[in-house]
Amino acid sequence: MMRKGAKPLGPVARLRRAVGDAIAAARERDPAARELGSLTILLTYGGVQAVLAHRVAHALWRAGVPLVPHAIMHVVRLATGVEIHPAARLGKRLFIDHGVGVVIGETAEVGDDVTLYQGVTLGGTGFARGKRHPTVRDRVIIGSGAKVLGPVEIGEGAKVGANSVVIHDVPANSTVVGNPGHPVRVDGKRPTGPDADWAHLPDPVADAITHLAERIDTLQRLVEELTGRRPAGEVRRFERRRGPSSAGG
Ligand SMILES: CC(C)(COP(=O)(O)OP(=O)(O)OC[C@H]1O[C@@H](n2cnc3c(N)ncnc32)[C@H](O)[C@@H]1OP(=O)(O)O)[C@@H](O)C(=O)NCCC(=O)NCCS
Repeated sequence: MMRKGAKPLGPVARLRRAVGDAIAAARERDPAARELGSLTILLTYGGVQAVLAHRVAHALWRAGVPLVPHAIMHVVRLATGVEIHPAARLGKRLFIDHGVGVVIGETAEVGDDVTLYQGVTLGGTGFARGKRHPTVRDRVIIGSGAKVLGPVEIGEGAKVGANSVVIHDVPANSTVVGNPGHPVRVDGKRPTGPDADWAHLPDPVADAITHLAERIDTLQRLVEELTGRRPAGEVRRFERRRGPSSAGG
């Protein structure tokens, strides 16, 4: 928000500020960029280039200029692998690290100081019109490959784990991981309650296989008793592996 009495910046001053912010965000959030000169970051960081190009395209899109905003973002996509719709609303100091594969849809809104890694999608879920992309609040971090789908809200300061698929709102200051994304930390603590143990869900397929293995074992022993011959092959006990599941948690 602008301070009372402060004069609005002209387009050139705004762009200069955006360039300074983008470079500062890269240095702050990518350890590899800390020692790099501003020009190196501007010339070699695809995510930074995409965000800056979007600032220009978005201003033109708001001014009602046809074609050009889309053409700018199309060229940016070819050059960087980052696709951002010109109408998407991006907050200050957004940093897209590595860039490639990031997609930000038309009605997405991204707050200030947000960090996105490569392969993040802020996408829609169907063909509906209107608000259909996520709203990402300030200081959110979204890990590489994560898909955030639909008009969901990612609360301030939340973290989305790499490769998560998020289809529900995420509370502020929480960490969600897995598919579907589920909270594993809220305000730094593990969530408690009946639905909190996502890592050890019932597995009906494994239960059925265990049951079958036990039955075959009983039948084999019966055959051995009746015929005196032990059938070839061995039925091994099916043991479910515990520990972190691929769904996270
Ligand atoms: C989610 C993340 C931000 C860590 O957040 P955090 O709040 O510090 O959470 P923690 O590291 O304490 O992990 C919380 C739990 O989630 C699990 N977890 C963390 N990241 C996960 C992921 N991507 N997928 C599945 N589970 C994950 C942890 O094993 C831990 O499990 P536990 O509760 O059984 O101990 C981080 O793991 C992550 O995915 N960062 C993205 C980084 C990235 O994309 N880097 C690309 C660089 S090129």
